[in-house]
Amino acid sequence: MDRIIVKPSGPLHGDVEINGAKNSALKVMAACSLAEGTFFLTNIPDITDVRLMSELLVSLGMTVRSVDTNSLEITNPGNLTAEAPYELVEKMRASIVVLGPLLARYGKARVALPGGDDFGPRPIDMHLRGLEMLGAKFASEHGYIDGHCERLRGSRIVLEFPSVGATENIMMAAVLADGTTIIENAAREPEIADLASFLNRMGSSVLGAGTSTIVIEGVEKLGAVEHAVVPDRIEAATYLAAVGIAGGEINLVGARPDHMDMLCQKVGEMGMRISADSNGLWVMANKTLKAVDLATLPYPGIATDYKPFLVAMLAVSEGVGIVTENLFSGRFRYIDELIRMGADIRTEGHHAVIRGVENLSGAPVRAHDIRAGAALVVAALRAQGQTEIRDPSHIDRGYENLVENLSSLGADITREN
Ligand code: UD1
Repeated sequence: MDRIIVKPSGPLHGDVEINGAKNSALKVMAACSLAEGTFFLTNIPDITDVRLMSELLVSLGMTVRSVDTNSLEITNPGNLTAEAPYELVEKMRASIVVLGPLLARYGKARVALPGGDDFGPRPIDMHLRGLEMLGAKFASEHGYIDGHCERLRGSRIVLEFPSVGATENIMMAAVLADGTTIIENAAREPEIADLASFLNRMGSSVLGAGTSTIVIEGVEKLGAVEHAVVPDRIEAATYLAAVGIAGGEINLVGARPDHMDMLCQKVGEMGMRISADSNGLWVMANKTLKAVDLATLPYPGIATDYKPFLVAMLAVSEGVGIVTENLFSGRFRYIDELIRMGADIRTEGHHAVIRGVENLSGAPVRAHDIRAGAALVVAALRAQGQTEIRDPSHIDRGYENLVENLSSLGADITREN
């Protein structure tokens, strides 16, 4: 099994190129099931989750060809098999987003029910309720959800919570429905606006994506197009946190500061200096950061995916910070690993109280999910001795070249087999 070895590092200096957003790329790839023809997608990160989504598209009957490291050519011959098997859904929960497009295009879809993960249970009731309001019917048996419908009909859908996946599934179904769909209390993440712009290039009419009301006029048919995926704000946040922890000054080339407002504000309060420029984002930390309190919220609030990095930063900041998780109740598991590295953190329900220490202490730790794994890597930059992050396969699900990039910024980090 591979392991990542990190020794105390910093200050970091240099440029890092931000890849395309995983959470946009996966949905744009799923949306290729809506139309026949050959799609050309660029700015696609070279990560395990993209390879899993490619496998899923191939199992549906499409062909996926890597043109170069970050571009894919996807051909949809039509007449797809409308089934997402358990073997793939189990490995990547985001596979559920093929449900909406397959139903809209083929009038049926069979998708394995995603189980829980390290964040705790992740239900899909809002996805199903929204699709039912468009006319789909569902039965669940043998671990699969079986959906069927005549042509879907537009409807007004009010989401109980601005779920990213439910908004995307409903949006991808509504583009081929008969009439107008309005999604109220829609999720507003930049990746949803990116998916909508892809759908609009294909011939859809989606208005308001990126706000909490999305209006979709259904059309009869869509076509294959080219698209470049938006930069990954969570990847950018990872390198920003590395500087917050190890000190230094770097350029996040290609990052979209306008997608990261609240994070920039928070780390500004902690004492980091940040500036947006035409190339992306410049970030600098030249002293120990100050602790702040923060709570995760749907966009434009502080993303739950940023939280592991913020907790790692607070672990070595001056003072006490209280972090409240409002999206995924179980998303604190990596904290036990940080505690093994000498962090002073107490959790109570969905709150964590973090008392900053001057330095952490290197230890063997395990990466339980993508962002938690990356947070342990950046925390280790400030840990005396050596930190060994075991089983980095979770990190590979969401990061292209995390080790190489940190090393090029001056971190003492290697990956061993
Ligand atoms: C997406 C992102 C994930 C991010 C999350 C929140 C992808 C591949 N993943 O996940 O990285 O952390 O958004 O920003 O894009 N919920 C229900 N019923 C549902 C759907 C969701 O109760 O039908 C709950 C979830 O359990 C969770 C909350 O709603 O508590 C938010 O989940 P959601 O926004 O749907 O997250 P995902 O789309 O799964």
